[in-house]
Amino acid sequence: MKKDLLTLADLDAADMDLLLSRARQLKKRHKKGIQDWSLIGKTVGLIFEKASTRTRISFQAAAAQLGGTSLFISSADTQLARNEPVADTARVLERYLDALVLRTYSQDIQTEFARVASIPVINALTDLYHPCQVLSDLLTVLEYKGRFQGLKVAWIGDGNNMAHSWINAAAALGFELVLACPQNYMPDSSVIHGAGDKRFIRVVHDPAEAASGADVINTDVWASMGQEDQAEARQSVFEPFQVNSGIMDRAKKDAIVMHCLPAHKGEEITEEVFEGPQSVVWDQAENKLHMHKAILETLINR
Ligand code: CP
Ligand code: NVA
Repeated sequence: MKKDLLTLADLDAADMDLLLSRARQLKKRHKKGIQDWSLIGKTVGLIFEKASTRTRISFQAAAAQLGGTSLFISSADTQLARNEPVADTARVLERYLDALVLRTYSQDIQTEFARVASIPVINALTDLYHPCQVLSDLLTVLEYKGRFQGLKVAWIGDGNNMAHSWINAAAALGFELVLACPQNYMPDSSVIHGAGDKRFIRVVHDPAEAASGADVINTDVWASMGQEDQAEARQSVFEPFQVNSGIMDRAKKDAIVMHCLPAHKGEEITEEVFEGPQSVVWDQAENKLHMHKAILETLINR
């Protein structure tokens, strides 16, 4: 594996398999009360420009449960906020830390940190990608469906950071991914063009077409962090893209419904579907802990 985890485009199927099987193993051991100590003496720094509940806390809990330490720093409290160059910050932080977990608006900042710092840099969300979330979501899919090959995954809603990381995952693992997005909210074409094997990836504008016969129905908020000023304008455009009982009727009977959270119930997903028997959202949230352990351990101890 590469030193950094900035995008799933950098991981091949073997890398993903490695992380998935280690996360499964760590989850099993955690459930049995077996302690793992793979991060003793290691310090993980988290610098976040955007809000976070799950990603921040699961990375910090992951480091603690493996015997390591973590430090959370809001980027506003660092000298980055006063224009200290990223390259200078990176050259300082690599002397204190064993890994850096970043949540930033721009992907380029993370690429620059990764270029300069000798320690692993891990993308905890940018405007462009959310790779760690999709890795833990893949773990949830594997738990419920037992495989990736032959699955149909539907993405219904915005062609956003989550959609981009799902595109990368489908290209690497070879499952069918059909994204139903409004005309002006499709995934970035450069992400699709950059995806290795595009045979299984399709973008459509009809949510029923994406949901038809799907094993997995996936959605996310209509306005992501940083798009708050567009929220009102997006409402009417996205209304036909709501995951509701009509959409679920199109999917396979045993389809699972996924949402990375936080959810806006009544908007991208109805309360009924969100709280219904096909929803696996709490397992998704839990699996972030186990996957983040696997990511930290693999990258720090490589
Ligand atoms: N799913 C996710 O990344 O949640 P947070 O924004 O709470 O970290
Ligand atoms: N697409 C959402 C995901 C939040 C975890 C956002 O970027 O806000």
